[in-house]
Amino acid sequence: MAEHLVVEGGTTLEGTIKIQGSKNGALPLLAATLLSDGRCTLSNVPDLKDIRTLLEIMSELGMSVDQRGPNTFSMRVTDETKSTARYELVSQMRASIYVLAPLLAKRGYAKVSLPGGCVIGLRPIDLHLKGLRALGAEIELDHGYVVARAPGGRLKGGRVFLGGPFGSSVGATANTLMAASLADGKSVIEGAACEPEVVELAHFLNRMGATITGIGTPRLVVTGVPSLGGARQSVIPDRIEAGTYMAAAAITGGDVTLEDVRMEHLGAVVDTFEKIGVRIEELDEETIRITRPGPIRPVRVTTLTYPGYPTDIQAQLASLLCLGEGISVVTEKIYPDRFMHLAELNRMGAEVMKEGASAVIKGVKVLKGTDVMASDLRAGAALVLAGLVAEGTTRVHRLYHVDRGYECIEAKLASLGAKIHRVKDAAVTRAA
Ligand code: UD1
Repeated sequence: MAEHLVVEGGTTLEGTIKIQGSKNGALPLLAATLLSDGRCTLSNVPDLKDIRTLLEIMSELGMSVDQRGPNTFSMRVTDETKSTARYELVSQMRASIYVLAPLLAKRGYAKVSLPGGCVIGLRPIDLHLKGLRALGAEIELDHGYVVARAPGGRLKGGRVFLGGPFGSSVGATANTLMAASLADGKSVIEGAACEPEVVELAHFLNRMGATITGIGTPRLVVTGVPSLGGARQSVIPDRIEAGTYMAAAAITGGDVTLEDVRMEHLGAVVDTFEKIGVRIEELDEETIRITRPGPIRPVRVTTLTYPGYPTDIQAQLASLLCLGEGISVVTEKIYPDRFMHLAELNRMGAEVMKEGASAVIKGVKVLKGTDVMASDLRAGAALVLAGLVAEGTTRVHRLYHVDRGYECIEAKLASLGAKIHRVKDAAVTRAA
């Protein structure tokens, strides 16, 4: 049965929490294990719906997965005869497209359901297909599926530029990188995404025996190898979850310490929060303390590819700025339609207007609790943040969106003093 979160606003968050392993970091690492002839072990994998969906897809593709503890998975391919990822699973999560390249490169054939758009925009996969075609793949779209073949069973090294109208693509870079690792000869990927999650994938592939240079730059050079072996890796901490709890601390004027944080992944976020008046102290290499000594100051911020301000912390920032002392402008350069949370924030008393790809946010003194709907994962988190400071009770519906990316969000917030709990939706009976 569906669930919602009930938040009583007005508590100041205080205490310490540990940041989970990165969802977006773990997904490509899991998919990359399909390339391996050996056993791979991943630790610090977050316990999330999206991770379970990908593991289910991989089991159907012949991966034998052994869970060794709450966040550690050991896996090995035991059957390479199936190469189809079905619509019913792929439609639950766009990142399922990550199985396309490993299947194609390793098994010579892949049939993966087209993921389709979602509430934050169209989300095409043209750059993924461009990358694979540059490596010799023959691809057709057939009844809602991407059907890809490697002539003669092997891809060939090639050169490709992966920049698109909204900059580089994380997913297309990851897919092309995985494919190039097992292609014959040398590949050059220009306009590659530089996000830490792509960097971690490249390191993992190298541990499996791949030869990738230029890691962390927009020019990746890959010398293909005949086969890849087993490897171990720990998933990096989730920079988006860290940014969300930084916003939670800031919006409540609290005093929160976050453990297992990589400051080097949060440069633009720290800079923006500091402009707003949030104080971020590095207690040690992996621990930060967040306080807000004064009012919330308005800012102008634009989401960009890494190392710019991340689109995945745009909605949470918008909630914070709703209580700023003045007018803020938040511009989306990655997903120009990613503003579904604004109407819900306005229902809570915010004064936000959408102007093209920008949100113009006029700070108000108070937000007021009501029923609101999560339209996607990060929009849902933004509404939870607003609920933490709103007068009265906020009920955030469609909680399954939030559960895709946050490990026990209510338990973590409650441990910091928030009044928050999860409730099953009452069955709705309609009169005929
Ligand atoms: C990943 C993240 C997502 C984040 C996004 C941008 C995962 C599982 N998801 O998504 O949380 O919001 O990066 O940081 O890691 N594009 C094209 N053609 C393509 C592919 C993308 O035009 O073939 C466009 C997209 O529509 C978007 C931009 O490029 O405007 C960036 O998208 P991309 O980096 O590919 O996002 P994802 O990898 O899907």
